[in-house]
Amino acid sequence: MKAGNQLALKLGKVTAVYPGSFDPITYGHLDLITRGAMLFDKLVVAVLRNTAKQPLFTAEERVEMLREVVRDYLNVEVDCFEGLLVDYAARKGATVLLRGIRAISDYEYELQMALMNRRLRPEIETVFLMAGEAYSFLSSRLVKEVVALGGDISGLVPPIVEARLRERVSGGS
Ligand code: PNS
Repeated sequence: MKAGNQLALKLGKVTAVYPGSFDPITYGHLDLITRGAMLFDKLVVAVLRNTAKQPLFTAEERVEMLREVVRDYLNVEVDCFEGLLVDYAARKGATVLLRGIRAISDYEYELQMALMNRRLRPEIETVFLMAGEAYSFLSSRLVKEVVALGGDISGLVPPIVEARLRERVSGGS
């Protein structure tokens, strides 16, 4: 690690970026944001704008829902990004990328991304938190599938997100 970054870490002003699709935010994401906000001086929740996946919600809608859900978190900012994550993190002055791991199945994908990001910008560290055990089965993809098939998603996503999901799958805008 470069001496400058070691100093930044020691001075204790660490900004972390928590990137993802957040299509939409679940309580699993919120658990990670809550814990990340306690660990770092500033946490930037960064929504990927151009994703290969076809999102249910636009980047603006995802940002809006996240902002509503984290509005009481004083050191959390919600933003969206495109292009390389590490370049975005560097522009934000971040030295940490935060990601959650739910199960072994997440590990391979996360390892690949962390190593590629390290190769691109070795001065930025990826920090992993284990997902809260209550949320280890939870994903945005499954939540969307369950709601589309009429299942109960209460307790899995914040109420405003649940309402937006129901509206969207019933054909509303
Ligand atoms: O919630 P997701 O979909 O698992 O998040 C994936 C994300 C946004 C972290 C990843 O796709 C990403 O970082 N995309 C930005 C493009 C990039 O930097 N790619 C090279 C890094 S491996």
